[in-house]
Amino acid sequence: MSTINYSEKIPNNVNLSEDRTLQRALEQWQPNYLHWWGDMGPEGSRNFDVYLRTAVSVDPQGWAQFGYVKMPDYRWGIFLNPAEKDRKIHFGDHLGEAAWQDVPGEHRANLRRIIVTQGDTEPASVEQQRHLGLTAPSQYDLRNLFQVNVEEGRHLWAMVYLLHKYFGRDGREEAEALLERRSGDQDHPRILGAFNEKTPDWLSFFMFTYFTDRDGKFQLCALAESSFDPLARTTKFMLTEEAHHMFVGESGVSRVVQRTCQVMNELKTDDPAKLRAAGVIDLPTIQRYLNFHYSVTIDLFGADQSSNAAIFYSSGLKGRFEEGKRTDDHLLKGATYGVLEVHDGQLVEKQVPMLNALNEVLRDDFIKDSVSGVGRWNKVIEKAGIPFRLQVPHKAFNRKIGTLSGIRVSPEGRVIGDAEWKANVSQWLPTPEDRAFVASLMGRVVEPGQFAHWIAPPVMGINRQPIEFEYVRFG
Ligand SMILES: [Fe+2]
Ligand SMILES: [Fe+2]
Repeated sequence: MSTINYSEKIPNNVNLSEDRTLQRALEQWQPNYLHWWGDMGPEGSRNFDVYLRTAVSVDPQGWAQFGYVKMPDYRWGIFLNPAEKDRKIHFGDHLGEAAWQDVPGEHRANLRRIIVTQGDTEPASVEQQRHLGLTAPSQYDLRNLFQVNVEEGRHLWAMVYLLHKYFGRDGREEAEALLERRSGDQDHPRILGAFNEKTPDWLSFFMFTYFTDRDGKFQLCALAESSFDPLARTTKFMLTEEAHHMFVGESGVSRVVQRTCQVMNELKTDDPAKLRAAGVIDLPTIQRYLNFHYSVTIDLFGADQSSNAAIFYSSGLKGRFEEGKRTDDHLLKGATYGVLEVHDGQLVEKQVPMLNALNEVLRDDFIKDSVSGVGRWNKVIEKAGIPFRLQVPHKAFNRKIGTLSGIRVSPEGRVIGDAEWKANVSQWLPTPEDRAFVASLMGRVVEPGQFAHWIAPPVMGINRQPIEFEYVRFG
């Protein structure tokens, strides 16, 4: 019954055309995926021809082929980075043994959980972003949104491939369930909190792709160290795509900041009311959006102390960020790490076994990485001669997971009471009025080379095309 030419329809380097079991599983799943895309993918975009890149192989020439595609016809492929010969496990209790080419029975449940949790975030973000195309500030931005969306779709395929190939019937059931949960749904929500939040406007989208896609980067980097070799190789390839998503976020926020600074200088004012009247987003509002997305995202790393994190590491399922570059013993048995707790009304650092604190280790690596981009946004403000600086809030601010979830902490890291929180929260997190204002700026700009008033054009176009290139043909 198979009429599918696999290498054509589904670009892959996993020998799909020879693998009958995998073909049967995918043939069942793919129509449901397309259904899901039709229901939950970018709204009203079915007939658009979009200038997208498609990965058709893992080598540098093949992984980024550009051309016009209707998104339901996008060729979602399955790619693993090339195998490393004789790869060895390089951390945890199995250190020095050969990497696993199959799933060891005793780690099956945990590995499946890890893959499902990662897989669940991919369609979730497409669902969160599905309305944004209706208010895109330019064709360039619309195309970037769609690129991120189809690649998150491909990341779902990557995880579904692992479930189908290595987890038999349970894997097939989990792959179906990935298409059944819905971001923000009361009864069937996505697994992780940040992926049930709304992404209602483009400032949220840029903050999300800057911070939350960067969480993706760090999770994928930790999984790229896994002893389960197919997972390591799949996630390594996903990382090449993730870089673009973070670029969209970093450059997007940067362009918003740039435009605001320009109008601040033209009007010689830093008064938010005047700037809002002039149709740009004042810097304090940008700071509040930043505070929100940052705090929601660092919760994704999980509780600061976690026995699961210790098990995942010691059993070799999930490593640390850049595990291979670290010079310790990669066992961490006697090592300790500082986590925060409240003592006498103050945040203090407490040393705990590092194995239990690996979520915190990864969160701190993320924090270092995200701070550098904020510094680049500040360069834009500095260049405009404006004294304001954006800042990431303290990591204890607005936390909903872990030891810090029960306490109120100001963005500077001061433990405060409920009254002080209530009196100041409108300075720290986006208010309904902020969101309504940002929403009021969102309008659809579709002429090639035209940009909404609140955002500066990018420095250059996509794939060396001019900025005024027709990135989307609306058909
Ligand atoms: Fe992704
Ligand atoms: Fe992403």
